[in-house]
Amino acid sequence: MDPRGKIALVTGAARRLGRAIATTLGRAGSHIVVHYSSSRQEAEETTAEIRQLGVEVLLERADLGQPEEVDALFDAVGERFGSLDILVNSAASFVRRPFARITVSEWDTVLALNLRAPFLCTQRSAALMAASDRSTGEPGLVVNMVDLSAVQAWPGYAHHGVSKAGLLHLTNIAARELAPEVRVNAIVPGPILPPTGMEVGSDEWHRHGMRVPLQRTGSPEQVGEAILFLTRNDYVTGETIFVDGGEHLVGTGHRADGGVREKS
Ligand SMILES: NC(=O)c1ccc[n+]([C@@H]2O[C@H](COP(=O)([O-])OP(=O)(O)OC[C@H]3O[C@@H](n4cnc5c(N)ncnc54)[C@H](OP(=O)(O)O)[C@@H]3O)[C@@H](O)[C@H]2O)c1
Repeated sequence: MDPRGKIALVTGAARRLGRAIATTLGRAGSHIVVHYSSSRQEAEETTAEIRQLGVEVLLERADLGQPEEVDALFDAVGERFGSLDILVNSAASFVRRPFARITVSEWDTVLALNLRAPFLCTQRSAALMAASDRSTGEPGLVVNMVDLSAVQAWPGYAHHGVSKAGLLHLTNIAARELAPEVRVNAIVPGPILPPTGMEVGSDEWHRHGMRVPLQRTGSPEQVGEAILFLTRNDYVTGETIFVDGGEHLVGTGHRADGGVREKS
């Protein structure tokens, strides 16, 4: 698919990776729906930056943990553009909690945002993608942002890991069931941006980079480039691309108990 003139919705696009993905697609000529939840100011800054690229931008707020707000988001996209070509499910939480302490409410909240929301967004997107002019035979595209906890057992992240494992499986199921109208792929970033509380220039983040085979951290732009590849190559579906410097070959280097047991 040529991204020029296409409509792309990026969830969690106000800041960090989502912002880089949205601006990469905007730079490639796509019109962008910037979704955010609580980062209003950053979302407005992202919107202004993308608008300067000469493409259309729609700014929409939604708590994706609430199904009715997912519906409202897609109603707004439908009203403004009437169709959709690209969905990037980037919004997610990243909550660490010892296994024994995860409450029912915490479990439900993480699964609702990290797994149910991408499902609902994909379901609504598929309907909007069908409304697009696909006369060129170009399928729509969904990209799910996963992480290594989907395939490796990270102690302290049971609900998160299960949600991402589910998202990876959902990628494959949707790729099969929604073909040939929609392609569905996953990206697994590695150490691209540090979690809250750790600085990009810190020694700790540098050490994270040194642990992966390519011995450095990556950049949000490299994730954006992977999304552009998935956009342009219409013969790729059900694929998972690791943008992680080879981290999936060696793991994330957690201790056997993840250092969480003594805290539980
Ligand atoms: N950073 C990395 O290096 C890395 C590594 C591996 C995988 N990933 C994956 O890549 C994606 C983006 O990573 P990131 O680090 O940029 O993510 P992030 O900063 O942890 O979160 C992205 C966005 O999710 C949104 N969000 C949180 N709760 C929400 C809710 N209830 N409803 C709607 N949106 C909500 C937030 O929007 P607001 O700020 O507007 O509230 C936030 O900006 C995630 O899926 C993550 O798992 C990232």
